[in-house]
Amino acid sequence: MKKLFAAFVIAALPALTFAAGGHDVELDHVDIDLTDKAALQDGARTFANYCMGCHSAKFQRYERVAKDLGIPEELMLENLVFTGAKIGDHMQIGMKPSDAKTWFGAAPPDLTLVARVRGTDWLYSYLRNFYEDPARPWGVNNKIFPNVGMPNVLVGLQGRQVVGCKQVQAVEEGKKQYDPLTGAPITHEACDQLTIVPKTGKLSEAEFDQKVQNLVTFLAYSADPNKLHMQRIGTYVLLYLAFFFVFAYLLKREYWKDVH
Ligand code: HEC
Repeated sequence: MKKLFAAFVIAALPALTFAAGGHDVELDHVDIDLTDKAALQDGARTFANYCMGCHSAKFQRYERVAKDLGIPEELMLENLVFTGAKIGDHMQIGMKPSDAKTWFGAAPPDLTLVARVRGTDWLYSYLRNFYEDPARPWGVNNKIFPNVGMPNVLVGLQGRQVVGCKQVQAVEEGKKQYDPLTGAPITHEACDQLTIVPKTGKLSEAEFDQKVQNLVTFLAYSADPNKLHMQRIGTYVLLYLAFFFVFAYLLKREYWKDVH
């Protein structure tokens, strides 16, 4: 019975995380390339600078990140470690969960595995969909995670995002609409759209999206660091098999020569 219950919980998990993720808001898709070292390094820097004030990645060690991402140890310690930790330490933070709960209403969860729990599209959408909402304690809300306790820590890069009117492409029954004659997208004005107040952020919209994509790439790596190595080993295995096949084939020909 216990087993059955456990199986049920595991089967229901994706549904539960989806429910917690909030309604049927459409997520933006992001392509993650775990072999892109520059993206991973940029993401690690953003994570250390903007997230580790509140979130730990305690199942990960600085040393492992430095090695996997090709960051020399001195640079890692100088630019990515702000807690006085040593290179071999786990990526812990100083904030106590009980304090955090008082300040934010919810403790910031550890983010080592968040990419596995939420998925990369969810993270990419979440981090880009904060908007101003004076009714909330921090003055911001989030389209993907309504009434979230986290402030918009990337506002300085993204700029102030507000609910406003924007031309959007018409969608009917899940399909984007195009003009049958010209092929141009059919648009209409919608007034529940998030728009960025011009010149309030350091980065352009495209640059900000790239920044968040890099950060999500780092989180995806952190949730599954072995994937990097598995991909490389996989390549060697395939090369070896291809090489081995040639010899196996020649050998087979040799053996069967006299049989025919
Ligand atoms: C000032 C503190 C603070 C900072 C800095 C911060 N967060 Fe948060 N974050 C929180 C709190 C608090 C929550 C919990 C919100 C809740 O449950 O309502 C949270 C929740 C989250 C969640 C949702 C986790 C889940 O699955 O429920 C993600 C993802 C996240 N933060 C990512 C980030 C990233 C990435 C950064 C850096 C860009 C960051 N946070 C910086 C305080 C912070």
